[in-house]
Amino acid sequence: MTDLGNKVVYQIYPKSFRDSNGDGFGDIPGVIEKLDYLAGLGVDYLWLTPFFLSPQKDNGYDVADYRRIDPKFGTMEDLESLILQCEKRGMGIMLDMVFNHTSTAHEWFQKALEGNEKYQEYYYFKDGSQEYAPTNWQSKFGGSAWEYVPGLNKWYLHLFDVTQADLNWGNRQVREELKEIIRFWKDKGIKGFRFDVVNLISKPEIWEDDLEGDGRRFYTDGPHIHEYLKELVKDTEIDALITVGEMSSTSLEHCVRYSSPKEKELSMCFNFHHLKVDYKDGNKWELMEPDFPALKTLFRQWQTGMQEGGGWNALFWCNHDQPRIVSRFGDEEKYWKESAKMLAGMIHLMQGTPYIYQGEEIGMTNPHYTSIQQYRDVESLNYYKILLEQNKTSEEALEILGARSRDNSRTPMQWTDEIYGGFSKSEPWLPISDNCGKINVKAQQDDSTSILSFYKKLIALRKEKEIISKGRITFFAQDNEDVMAYKRNWEEQELIIFCNLRGENSSAGIQPEWNTYRKLLGNYDSSPEIIDLHDISLRPYEIIVLEK
Ligand code: GLC
Repeated sequence: MTDLGNKVVYQIYPKSFRDSNGDGFGDIPGVIEKLDYLAGLGVDYLWLTPFFLSPQKDNGYDVADYRRIDPKFGTMEDLESLILQCEKRGMGIMLDMVFNHTSTAHEWFQKALEGNEKYQEYYYFKDGSQEYAPTNWQSKFGGSAWEYVPGLNKWYLHLFDVTQADLNWGNRQVREELKEIIRFWKDKGIKGFRFDVVNLISKPEIWEDDLEGDGRRFYTDGPHIHEYLKELVKDTEIDALITVGEMSSTSLEHCVRYSSPKEKELSMCFNFHHLKVDYKDGNKWELMEPDFPALKTLFRQWQTGMQEGGGWNALFWCNHDQPRIVSRFGDEEKYWKESAKMLAGMIHLMQGTPYIYQGEEIGMTNPHYTSIQQYRDVESLNYYKILLEQNKTSEEALEILGARSRDNSRTPMQWTDEIYGGFSKSEPWLPISDNCGKINVKAQQDDSTSILSFYKKLIALRKEKEIISKGRITFFAQDNEDVMAYKRNWEEQELIIFCNLRGENSSAGIQPEWNTYRKLLGNYDSSPEIIDLHDISLRPYEIIVLEK
């Protein structure tokens, strides 16, 4: 496997990145236009979310043909040119493989619906009467995870939208088909893969009701998951590439196995536990202030647990499913710049491979939509209805979506202060944030104090200092509720990182031996050069990095 420690991945949501042909919908030629910007940031890989042929019920995560490019995004020639142009700039493309399910518009599913038994075996079709679904499992987008097909007198499983039918990985033919798809893209020069909700692919042999939950405990990190991953990797020889699995509700023990090089499964894992510390009782649709002590504990457990087990983390705050981090754990008004930088530094200096989601590097915020008409995401629209059924008022439901909707991160990229933010010449498919006059790439590009410059600095530091990719991590000051504090050690080198999680001054203790350390990085334009050697007093959302 390639040494991934000093690599940085940039995630592109092509639909919202840059629209080159003025239809309000981002496309692959739009990505090509921005390659110099991305190379300038210093990132190594571009992960593009799905642009395959799709009815777009779940924005491309409902794939109808894994080998064709949806014409809305461009052509195969455009993609080939993107791959080439990336290579010239020393960057590689990572594709998003949605292998837990296909769109119901996929040929396989269509044949299954026509009664073809071979293709019914590609999915989970279960006999049963219309009154009773095979199990009581719930879809992650709300409602039952089963859909009845009257013509067949069968139900099919869909853990996500009703148009996303789960594939039967227990069927060898399915696994062979999926390997062929990987080979097809590898041959085109793709350098890595992200596997969508891949820890959900192995379903149990016995189908039973979940009397304690929504069914996830039966299929999460399911019975044959490690076997399937090993087989896929071995037969497609993707262990030489960069691979990352999206692991839903997973455990540390499984992630060690998924990502430990000796297991020959994946290079690294996304887990989401740190992004649930503001879910009340674990419920995404109940708002709560972030529980920072819990966040500290989770980072400590995962960082040190993966280190001890020999696994590797994907480090991230943002993606196309998560609200903007500066709106969530920072302060997008009073301390917008400071908190965006602190949050960036906090994870970039941990152990793992950092992922930057488009717009994060300029501190893009949630758009604060005021009407349900502004939303497009299937999960948000479903949950809006569910929240109203639970007797929430429409204001309350909108407040929840304002904080939790996946559309918060899917708004068009803010390139300039022009009307549609330089994303498009026409009205975008999803409304752009009102603050694009203030928050945009153009405004930050030549400003050495900007959030964008801070991200560039972090990426450059990772390339410059081995300790960031290779160093051991240890957490300290665990009882301090306001400050995340950790150390990195590598050979004779040492870094000490303090992050104030609060919008007030906080204090972090200091050890006498640090009095000779120099300040390597900070997020205040005028940080004190001389540090009080008894105590470091941190300003709101301040990050201070000391180097031995
Ligand atoms: C993943 C994707 C998300 C998608 C879901 C179903 O969580 O990131 O966008 O809706 O899988 O494919």
